[in-house]
Amino acid sequence: MRLIFLGAPGAGKGTQARTLAGERGIPQIATGDMLREAVAKGTRLGMEAKSYMDRGALVPDKVVVGLVAERLDQDDAKKGFILDGFPRTVAQAEVLERLLKDRELVVDRVIFFEVSEGELLRRLTGRRVCRGCGATYHLAFSPPKSAGRCDRCEGELYQREDDSEATVRRRLEVYAAQTSPLLDYYRSRGLLTRIAGEGSPEAIGRAIRQAVAR
Ligand code: AP5
Repeated sequence: MRLIFLGAPGAGKGTQARTLAGERGIPQIATGDMLREAVAKGTRLGMEAKSYMDRGALVPDKVVVGLVAERLDQDDAKKGFILDGFPRTVAQAEVLERLLKDRELVVDRVIFFEVSEGELLRRLTGRRVCRGCGATYHLAFSPPKSAGRCDRCEGELYQREDDSEATVRRRLEVYAAQTSPLLDYYRSRGLLTRIAGEGSPEAIGRAIRQAVAR
């Protein structure tokens, strides 16, 4: 199973990818997580990426494509993967197509999460993430049992720097300009399935499983 999860920032790609990847025993390849890991480690790539991420801009294609190409060659990605947040430009999608073709692979389906702008803003500004295990919470929609602490590992919960309202608005503009053209790109290849991304995470998960089964 080789899937792409496509949608605006806060559409729920990470939440759903984590669950489905766990169920199917395949990796969730999330470029945002990979970049944040590089930032936390203070690598040169991380330092370069941080300046783009902090202002809500996309990291240059060359940097991201290099990361994904290496990740696809790891053993756990041989039986499938969920790409979460990649590709994000038509140029990235074209490179991905070539990378997969070289490995005699294709994408099976692209799941597009449709969510209104007001809901995206509410989700992102209320999101909290665990420093320890990366679990995601929302102050109103899925709060932790004890304030500021992760239910799973008791790690500290923090707000991502790019989840401030001003940066979220910038990320939404970047999405509309640079990522939304991918909808036509994948529609024209017959790969796109649109999912209503509002409602309970469980109902959305069921819709994704049905789309994948088709
Ligand atoms: P990245 O980390 O990929 O951020 P994003 O795409 O902006 O996506 P998010 O993680 O914000 O949202 P999501 O859709 O995963 O939502 P989630 O499930 O967490 O990228 C960050 C930055 O890295 C980019 O801005 C860019 O700089 C760089 N980057 C990354 N990839 C790149 C690429 N390919 N090229 C260039 N640059 C790249 O949910 C959000 C919140 O909503 C959570 O609090 C969650 O609990 C809640 N929630 C989820 N589902 C529901 C539901 N059904 N109902 C209510 N609340 C829900």
